[in-house]
Amino acid sequence: MGNAELDATIEGLEAEVEALSAKGISLDMARGKPSTEQVDLSRPLLDVLDSASDLTDSGQDAANYGVPWGLPSAKRLMAAIMGCPEEQVVVAGASSLNIQFDCLVHAWVRGVRGEAPWGTLPRVAFLCPSPGYDRHFAMTEHFGIENIPVPLQGDGPDMEVVEELVRDPAVKGMWVVPKYQNPTGITFSDEVVRRIARLEPAAPDFRVFWDNAYAVHDLYEEGDELLEIFGAIEKEGGRDLVYEFASTSKITFPGSGIAAMAASEADLADLEETFAIERVCPDKVNMLRHARYLGDLAAVRAHMAREAEVLRPRFEVVVDKLEAGLAGVDGCSWGHPRGGYFVSFRGPEGSAAAIVSLCREVGVTLTPAGATWPGGEDPYDRDLRIAPSYPTLAELSQAIDVFCACARLVCARLERARRS
Ligand SMILES: Cc1ncc(COP(=O)(O)O)c(C=O)c1O
Repeated sequence: MGNAELDATIEGLEAEVEALSAKGISLDMARGKPSTEQVDLSRPLLDVLDSASDLTDSGQDAANYGVPWGLPSAKRLMAAIMGCPEEQVVVAGASSLNIQFDCLVHAWVRGVRGEAPWGTLPRVAFLCPSPGYDRHFAMTEHFGIENIPVPLQGDGPDMEVVEELVRDPAVKGMWVVPKYQNPTGITFSDEVVRRIARLEPAAPDFRVFWDNAYAVHDLYEEGDELLEIFGAIEKEGGRDLVYEFASTSKITFPGSGIAAMAASEADLADLEETFAIERVCPDKVNMLRHARYLGDLAAVRAHMAREAEVLRPRFEVVVDKLEAGLAGVDGCSWGHPRGGYFVSFRGPEGSAAAIVSLCREVGVTLTPAGATWPGGEDPYDRDLRIAPSYPTLAELSQAIDVFCACARLVCARLERARRS
């Protein structure tokens, strides 16, 4: 396209964006939470227990103190979701992020398996495949841990970079969302999982924080398959390397579900020293309700298929509209997730903050540019996270139209600036 044609294109796009502005749109696309329609699918869970219910589980009393590491049926359920042996599982509280925080507290205050507490060390660093989950990065940042970005590729973190960086004994951990990653929706390949399982970090207290938040969150009948990490580690010689986390936040009620972690037997025994100080026992009545309602993995999958009916059209509107509106625009690409909660968009370098700001002017609030990078700083200013779950289909459709018009205008302006 010649310069005159580019100027005319920009003028046309400016008129298009102005016309959208005049519509008085007000949409919030920043929230990665389920819609009411989705959450309502779990309402029958509330009828599972009443005042006449048996509150015991395999002889364990859910109605009193005790059973600190979780009711047997809840452990079985969460082990099935994570795909690991139930002996390796602790079920605790309503939030997997809380358990992740607890693990950091343990490492910081007590130290992992007799190693020096991280809080006593001059430097502690974590690897952060980016773009990634902002709350992970915020957690390590909260402790004063140095977040080191690692490139995230289509099949997982760049393992050559990871293998090099773990040779530094100050590197104590790595955040990962291995299935339907937040925000890209990618699932780690078997080869990446095996390379993680084979890692030989210099620090004996290095742990991968394996946040399997979207383990059963398939949008299609045929979901992505993630190689089970503890089995992979076993095949590579069986070292203590991974803390795994999951919850029912996006299966039943966010904030009122049940959360779990899995680790090697020795790691769990180590962590339980801290967990036991923190509480007498978790909320086992909610655990019982969830275990009875969700039952087994087959029932969880049937429930998630109903959730997918609500979610899938929303994802498809986003991806179809991005294809229609931005195909062929230089430097623009986006994910085609088969599960999870997000669609990620990548524009040309220097475009993300401008797209967010232009969308805001038109009336569409997006997740801030940079949010998916450590410290909120995307060094290339090009990644954006789109959260399709909460808005209605009509709102989503309108918001993506705005997004595409704004992205096209920002890209065209960048091209003009590049030429001048
Ligand atoms: C990767 C990931 N982990 C954890 C969570 C939150 O989990 P929980 O509600 O169990 O704390 C989210 C929510 O968006 C998430 O995307």
